[in-house]
Amino acid sequence: MAVAAGQPTPKAEAGNPLVEGLERLPVAPTTLVIFGATGDLARRKLLPALYNLAHDGALPERFYLVGVSRKEKAHEDYRAECAEAIRRFSRRKPDEEVLKALLENVRYIPGTFDEESVYAELGKTLDEFEQEAGEPLNRAFYLATAPHFFPVIVEELGRSKLAHHAHAEVRVIIEKPFGTTLEEARELNRRVLAIFDETQVFRIDHYLGKETVQNMMAFRFANGMFEPFWNRNYIDSVQITAAEDIGIESRADYYDKAGALRDLIQNHMLQLLCHVAMEPPVSFTAEEVRNEKVKVLKSVPEPTPVEIPQIAVRAQYGPGHAGGEDVPGYLEEEGVPPDSTTETYAALRLEVDNWRWAGVPFYLRTGKRLARKVTEIAVTLKPVPHLAFSQEGSLGVQPNQLVLTLQPNEGVSLRLGAKIPGTRMIIRPVNMEFLYGTAFLSQSPEAYERLITDAMRGDATLFTRNDEVEAQWRICDPIVRTWAGTPGPLPKYPAGSQGPKEAELILREGDHWRAI
Ligand code: BG6
Repeated sequence: MAVAAGQPTPKAEAGNPLVEGLERLPVAPTTLVIFGATGDLARRKLLPALYNLAHDGALPERFYLVGVSRKEKAHEDYRAECAEAIRRFSRRKPDEEVLKALLENVRYIPGTFDEESVYAELGKTLDEFEQEAGEPLNRAFYLATAPHFFPVIVEELGRSKLAHHAHAEVRVIIEKPFGTTLEEARELNRRVLAIFDETQVFRIDHYLGKETVQNMMAFRFANGMFEPFWNRNYIDSVQITAAEDIGIESRADYYDKAGALRDLIQNHMLQLLCHVAMEPPVSFTAEEVRNEKVKVLKSVPEPTPVEIPQIAVRAQYGPGHAGGEDVPGYLEEEGVPPDSTTETYAALRLEVDNWRWAGVPFYLRTGKRLARKVTEIAVTLKPVPHLAFSQEGSLGVQPNQLVLTLQPNEGVSLRLGAKIPGTRMIIRPVNMEFLYGTAFLSQSPEAYERLITDAMRGDATLFTRNDEVEAQWRICDPIVRTWAGTPGPLPKYPAGSQGPKEAELILREGDHWRAI
């Protein structure tokens, strides 16, 4: 059974002092409207997240859901589809009673997103809910559609007077990608901000909803021991990896237009870089945290066409062996043009040119069909200035390395040099490990659970601000343009491998990519 929001969660967590903080924050009565309600994102992520919030008692006491999508169907059929999606994709097996209560307040509106009648119907439905509730309800419009509909929906909401409410809060949640170039991102911001105020806009980057990404701030700013060495004097390099073992699945249509740089680096990986490099914010408010992140992004010099070949590498996976089976190469995937030059792997060497970080390389790499799924940040310290051991003893000494693993096996590992037991002074590296899952005996909520709650509460800390998204594009845009103007074919790497050998070319002498 669900518990009321604002109360500590009961049952499994009771008596476990490590999860005492898992309190649910109160959320005002809300109607959530999902545009693109029958799409993949809604089915795989949003509906299961809503179910789990309901299960945890984290939804407002009065909560209504409206699905808007093109296909004609009855409310009852949409409810059945929601139930099916939740049963299939929820992180927990649904409790039928909670599911039934959630679905009772679900409606469906069919139509295309530029049809005035859809918004008239939506307005009527929202009013009916308010009459039923006997009070004004906040409204959250979730744009989970193809990106070219984002401005269309926003403008229709404005035209039909749904973007503001005299007695309640209205918010719009916008999925990625937020533009495919700097120019497009600017134009989208302009169109969105012509209708909504920035405080009403919540741009999603689901990495920000991940517990382990948020934990990085706790790690850095709640522990005094890291700050003294968190700078160019002690840190030699930073390596951020977001490797995936999966291919492009059935997303050729989207992926072939996007590529690895736009899909993961422009958003998720630059956010991770910001978390490593940002200064401590004055407070953890949305504005202060985002001000610090924007400062980091502005400190990254815009790559010039001349330096791009030295700091950026792209590649495509060829056929290979992954997940225990033979898999096709990117160009053989269904829906991919046989002469596509879209990259499925991208690696960059960036600098954060400010007082704290000048001269420290920040390596970023991501790719599909690599050896395994791993997202991690490895911070390598400079070597010690002098080794007093005999030559044999010194051979095993490696610089300290702090690895923050975001997924899977979330945790922190610190590489230290230790003496091998015995009479001689021989050193080898050992790891000191902290595992998130072992320390906190509870399952982390999915990113979307946190993000939907925060958007409904109006807390924008974990969302990308307008200037932030443009600052991200400022870094990626020149690379996108240079690559677009450079003909293929692209360097290849076998599916299931460590990636292309060309990735070595952007490393500073003596640096190595970590094994995936
Ligand atoms: C999405 C990308 O934003 O992130 C996908 O579009 C990618 O291509 C996914 O697979 C990775 O997210 P996660 O949470 O599995 O690391």
